[in-house]
Amino acid sequence: MTTCCIHPSILSADFVNLESELRRIGSADAVHVDVMDNSFVPNLTLGLPVVKRIQAVSPIPLDVHLMIDDADRWAPEYAGAGVSSVTFHAEAARAPIRLARELRSAGAKAGMALRPATAVEPYLDMLGELDMLLVMTVEPGFGGQSFLDVTLPKIRRAAEAIRGGNLPVAIQVDGGITEETIGRAAEAGATVFVAGSSVYGTEDPAVAIAGLRRAAS
Ligand code: DX5
Ligand code: ZN
Repeated sequence: MTTCCIHPSILSADFVNLESELRRIGSADAVHVDVMDNSFVPNLTLGLPVVKRIQAVSPIPLDVHLMIDDADRWAPEYAGAGVSSVTFHAEAARAPIRLARELRSAGAKAGMALRPATAVEPYLDMLGELDMLLVMTVEPGFGGQSFLDVTLPKIRRAAEAIRGGNLPVAIQVDGGITEETIGRAAEAGATVFVAGSSVYGTEDPAVAIAGLRRAAS
């Protein structure tokens, strides 16, 4: 399995200095932007106006992770802002296939996320509608939590289905990704790695990004 992408999460960045925080991760493949609504998850971060400004100044593409209710209503608005990918939660979407199609027709890659306790099996038949499947490796809502090894079989199951169907779908993992855990996720079949505290929580994010790349391969 080829590994590829490190997506630092700005959830762990300094929100007062977002523009310079983005420049510190210029060697990453994309910036992961966590949108939370204090309903789908018990935390509140930022919304569309801030995402639009980040999009305007970011040197790297935006990977938007929506941890919000009513994804059918809101996700297309983020795609319309010109970001690279929009990921909604399966648990928050009424019509995930229609929504994935809308995101793609708005010009964004379509991602769908699963909470740790959500099984992948009901969604295997719709993988072809997606560009990315996000397997949450912590309960969504907060940075700095520990990687849940219990999610590894789900990553393997998804990777197997993607290989079997010869589908161009990336598997992203998000939560508790460090130099210690990234190898296990990569071995299971993940290819896109979100890392918040293990990048922004260090002195030099560029060094941390390089370290994660080494540990993943
Ligand atoms: C958590 C967010 C993550 C978070 C990851 O719900 O979706 O993107 O920033 O943070 P770490 O890497 O610190 O677990
Ligand atoms: Zn996230």
